[in-house]
Amino acid sequence: MGSQHYDLLASSADRASSQQLAAHYSDFTIKWATLDWEIRQAHALRRSVFCDEQGIFEKDDIDEIDYEAQVLVAIANHGGWHEKIVGTVRIHQPEEGIWWGSRLAVQHEFRKQVGLGANLILLAVSSAYALGCVQFLAQVQKKNEAFFQRLNWQSQFDLDVRNHPHVMMQADLSEFTPCFQPTSGFVVKSKRRTYMNEVPSPLLYACIAKSATYASAAEVYYAT
Ligand SMILES: CC(C)(COP(=O)(O)OP(=O)(O)OC[C@H]1O[C@@H](n2cnc3c(N)ncnc32)[C@H](O)[C@@H]1OP(=O)(O)O)[C@@H](O)C(=O)NCCC(=O)NCCS
Repeated sequence: MGSQHYDLLASSADRASSQQLAAHYSDFTIKWATLDWEIRQAHALRRSVFCDEQGIFEKDDIDEIDYEAQVLVAIANHGGWHEKIVGTVRIHQPEEGIWWGSRLAVQHEFRKQVGLGANLILLAVSSAYALGCVQFLAQVQKKNEAFFQRLNWQSQFDLDVRNHPHVMMQADLSEFTPCFQPTSGFVVKSKRRTYMNEVPSPLLYACIAKSATYASAAEVYYAT
């Protein structure tokens, strides 16, 4: 995805259709990536976010950590199919018991819609925890500090990474439950979704015309 495409998506005129795009998908699977296409799309999403959108890297953000890291993905599901990668993060363990998370990215149209970022962090920490993690760390962009704090992370100190303000943060592991099946992961239902089978039929077409959406609390259930 080129920067021109991102600019179009970021325009205020497109905000409404952004929300509709997230509601188009029935649910989202959060899991460890196991297939080539998942990893390919996750890297493409990272490039679009960290190179085109944020300009932190020039052409590619791949580094030596990618050779040892486990990639996690958020997959948008449509009609029972795992259709496309819309979020990612990677985790790695440079020392016994010490895990790091990095390159957290959610596709622009899916941000603050479903809880994808929060659920990627949840799986990142809880899957490392199941593998003996005693400390889980991340260099978090300063603008996301409050987001991580809400997810039971504690701030340690400020630092600059590639001339961008960051904060070193650590997950409070006592707030996480170990996840022993990260390749299955879990499924998150869209927060804003049109449930056609819940709409009385005389109202159905009117509802479609108005693109009515039901706001409901996010539901999470485990994949089989
Ligand atoms: C940061 C990012 C991953 C968050 O992902 P997301 O899917 O939008 O986040 P979620 O939907 O899971 O957010 C969960 C909650 O935190 C809130 N939230 C999201 N980003 C926030 C932020 N930066 N600061 C404070 N709150 C935030 C959401 O509004 C939501 O609140 P709610 O539960 O009351 O509805 C996403 O904005 C992104 O990809 N940004 C660009 C890349 C980036 O900055 N990566 C992180 C590097 S450290």
